[in-house]
Amino acid sequence: MDSLVQENGDSQASQADRQKDRSETGAAIEFRSVTKKYGSHTVVENLSLTIPSGKITVFVGPSGCGKTTSLRMINRMVEHTSGEILVKGQPNTESSPHELRRSIGYVLQQAGLMPHRKIIDNIATVPYLKNVPKKQARAQAKELMKTVGLSEDLANRYPAQLSGGQAQRVGVARALASESDIILMDEPFSAVDPVVRADLQQEILRLQEKFHRTIIFVTHDIDEAIQLGDYIAVFATGGRLAQFGTPEEILREPADDFVSGFVGRDRGMRRLTFASAQNLPIHPLEAQDTPWQKWQLKIKDGMPAGWETEGRTIPGGSLFVEGGTLRDALDSVLSSPSGWGVVVDRQGKAIGLLNSDDVLDATEEERYRRYGVA
Ligand SMILES: Nc1ncnc2c1ncn2[C@@H]1O[C@H](COP(=O)(O)OP(=O)(O)OP(=O)(O)O)[C@@H](O)[C@H]1O
Ligand SMILES: [Mg+2]
Repeated sequence: MDSLVQENGDSQASQADRQKDRSETGAAIEFRSVTKKYGSHTVVENLSLTIPSGKITVFVGPSGCGKTTSLRMINRMVEHTSGEILVKGQPNTESSPHELRRSIGYVLQQAGLMPHRKIIDNIATVPYLKNVPKKQARAQAKELMKTVGLSEDLANRYPAQLSGGQAQRVGVARALASESDIILMDEPFSAVDPVVRADLQQEILRLQEKFHRTIIFVTHDIDEAIQLGDYIAVFATGGRLAQFGTPEEILREPADDFVSGFVGRDRGMRRLTFASAQNLPIHPLEAQDTPWQKWQLKIKDGMPAGWETEGRTIPGGSLFVEGGTLRDALDSVLSSPSGWGVVVDRQGKAIGLLNSDDVLDATEEERYRRYGVA
């Protein structure tokens, strides 16, 4: 990717400046009392919201509450009825819709790929529009395929020949290829299965660590919002902004009944997402008896391969990846047939076990720490 940026004629220094700009916490986008009406029907009502640069801001809310409309007003795919939208300090009405769409990346639910163009050309769409020489644009596109975890073999396929997850990765690569500071994503992962979706979410977080773009991500899934968002804007039915804050703020102090209802009853569980599990003892792989049963963790090539008891092998539950959260730890012990959570390193090798009592104690402590009651 580094070489990519330079190929557009940027010096190392300006590239570094740009990276710095992105990570500064100024406003990338500002909605000032923005309203959108279709006839007499108000779909976004008096929206005021400041979206910081270099962060992921998630718009979340039930169907029809105006998330997509709000997103599309940013790059004027939808024109607002009143109020003002500033993009990097400039009213967006001062740029043509055409300019805005070139300078702001956009990833759609169905990836929005052009069916008659090869994957590589889909990724290079914006560079082509900007007259980057074809050879160079393709080289960049190939590089980006690697970045988003796509095999180069797919370069000459057509969108219909990809899985849903692969198509979404192409959509993300295309948005990165535009090199825009701002990327809009409208439910990009809603059409893929939960496993692929979790992968793509991790991928976005990984890419974001590297590129620090301003990402505005629409979803109606509160878990996805918590997972990805540095900030979350909760929209209520009728196009009203119910709350804006960090995931933790929203879970800790929902602004009203609508938000607490939307965040759900298991928000206590969700909050464990923010609690570190670093103080949990990791027990050696051998210590796995429970008072009522003997369990043996099976290991194949260093990786956990299920639990064995009384001659039977039972598939393991979710694994706890080193450095995970208390919620991950709780998931791992609750889903494990033996009651022992399996700790793996980042390469997936089994390195130890979590004891369910330790995890439950830590959860209690966390609650005490937050509420001051046992
Ligand atoms: N072109 C249009 N003409 C009239 N009404 C529209 C138009 N586009 C959207 N709407 C209405 O505006 C409201 C908000 O739509 P929007 O697509 O922004 O919702 P959303 O929050 O993205 O919903 P979803 O989660 O289902 O995607 C809906 O009631 C929708 O029917
Ligand atoms: Mg929508």
